[in-house]
Amino acid sequence: MENVVSGIRPTGNLHLGNYFGAVTSFVKMQDDYNCKFFIADWHSLTTHPKPEDIQASTNTILAEYLACGIDPEKSVVYMQSDVPEVLELYMYLNMNTYLGELERVTTFKEKARKQPDNVNAGLLTYPTLMAADILIHRALKVPVGKDQEQNMEMARKCARRFNNIYGVDFFPEPQSFYFAKEAIKIPGLDGSGKMGKSEGNCIYLKDDAKTIQKKVMKAVTDSGPTEPNSEKPEVIKNLFTFLNIVSAPETVQFFEEKWNDCSIRYGDLKKQLAQDIIGYTEPIRERINEYSANKELLRKVAEQGAEKARESARQTLAEVRQIIGFKQY
Ligand code: TRP
Repeated sequence: MENVVSGIRPTGNLHLGNYFGAVTSFVKMQDDYNCKFFIADWHSLTTHPKPEDIQASTNTILAEYLACGIDPEKSVVYMQSDVPEVLELYMYLNMNTYLGELERVTTFKEKARKQPDNVNAGLLTYPTLMAADILIHRALKVPVGKDQEQNMEMARKCARRFNNIYGVDFFPEPQSFYFAKEAIKIPGLDGSGKMGKSEGNCIYLKDDAKTIQKKVMKAVTDSGPTEPNSEKPEVIKNLFTFLNIVSAPETVQFFEEKWNDCSIRYGDLKKQLAQDIIGYTEPIRERINEYSANKELLRKVAEQGAEKARESARQTLAEVRQIIGFKQY
């Protein structure tokens, strides 16, 4: 089975966009690939979070992963900071990566613009740390969003360059595996195309019924159709996209007909949608609460994951050291 690696930075709770995008793809891949999913807590240091933020969000994400169906019996689930081998590889990769190419990465430029007082070296070398995350397991496929393409290009460059410098065929070039193809893109309900943390329009998996209801009732709509069978404007399409995901086919059909004969009442649609989102997410939310309360289990999962991840990392690193010319003890 091919090796798959992916990571998520612990910067808050999972929202429905994460869920129907990355996380459902991870869950589906578990049976067909040798998967490793980790929480990129070192990467989060590039923005200087406080210790309590790191602790809280790594635990939360772990509980949420499990609640969504990532199965530690099938996949290796671990914290990046539990695998120190990654750092040694990161250092070797940094030796062969040039300032100019790191400075050209758009995510670096964007971050540097956003936090001008904190343009740290970790931010600059974010792509080599990401490359180390991937190459340490010699992964072939990396499920990521489109926004990670430049980082993935850097990871391939790192692999190629290492192979060239040492005249070996050691690191395979990892390929992006866009889940966008099969994943459903979740729209924002504020009229923006996408649900995202930076857009501030998220419905979170952990949101309770009341919160979800409030958020859905605030969804942007228009003044309603004036001609039968007219095309839906973007904001209304968004509502229907949502309905299609969480509601029964009869419900979708019902509102389609109401739209088509111009008798649709957005208030009714939203009420139904809120109810169906609540119904859909309730079991996940219950599992999140159960896992979050079970610190012992979370600790065990992380410990077991770290052990397996380190085993794979140690093997790679031993060979890397030998290739570079360091003595093996
Ligand atoms: N940069 C990724 C993101 O922001 C997170 C990440 C870190 C990652 N290391 C990785 C993703 C390795 C895939 C593989 O989404």
